[in-house]
Amino acid sequence: METRIFENAEEIAVAAAELYKELINSKPDAVLGLATGATPVPTYQNLIKMYENGEISFKDITTFNLDEYCDLDKNDKNSYYTFMHENLFSKVDIDESKVNFLDGNAPDCDAESKRYAEAIKAAGGIDLQLLGIGTNGHIAFNEPADEFTDEAFKVTLTQSTIDSNQKYFGDVPMPRYAMTMGIGSIMRSKKILLIATGEAKADAVKALHSGEVTPRIPCSILNQHDDVIIMLDKAAAKLL
Ligand code: GLP
Repeated sequence: METRIFENAEEIAVAAAELYKELINSKPDAVLGLATGATPVPTYQNLIKMYENGEISFKDITTFNLDEYCDLDKNDKNSYYTFMHENLFSKVDIDESKVNFLDGNAPDCDAESKRYAEAIKAAGGIDLQLLGIGTNGHIAFNEPADEFTDEAFKVTLTQSTIDSNQKYFGDVPMPRYAMTMGIGSIMRSKKILLIATGEAKADAVKALHSGEVTPRIPCSILNQHDDVIIMLDKAAAKLL
């Protein structure tokens, strides 16, 4: 893991977008693993600017998002499908047929998991997987557990995740379940970029850097991947 500490979230967003620019310009049909949450939004804004300036194109890019809520229509304003379209896809030249999401309402979760794994494989694997981090150390929606997961699965969200994410839903109770890529799917990405900003992430960031690898701290598995960049602002890095 290579950890880089920046002054603030804006500086991270510039550096992260540069990483994407390098990848996209060297491999215009790259496969990107994308994340939701507030953390990646400034990076997406910089990617949109780069697209508008003619520095990058998404026309041959394939994307796979990490996760999606269950029991929510994909066009609901709080779905991750809507989030990605509002924050990136509708503002760049991406080909909608190359945009991939887990179906949070799939009647057969095992079949859905297989479908996603096969689609990732058929696309040639994920070149660069973007990750945020939950306050409890979760990545995608892989919550603290007794074992590391492998392919996508349906997860029961923990109270800690519900407490952290309810703010995005306002007065509407947020879903209790999600479909998420598993730890194995994430670890098979060729390169991983994890971004964490703000003091609320400091404990999880510290646990990630302790060197201990345990499914109780899902992000800790990243210690076993040989191409991981961690970008932190000073607040998220304050316990290092
Ligand atoms: C959700 C997502 C994660 C994300 C996390 C942190 O739980 N499933 O992928 O990393 O939120 O979100 P935020 O960046 O808003 O703190």
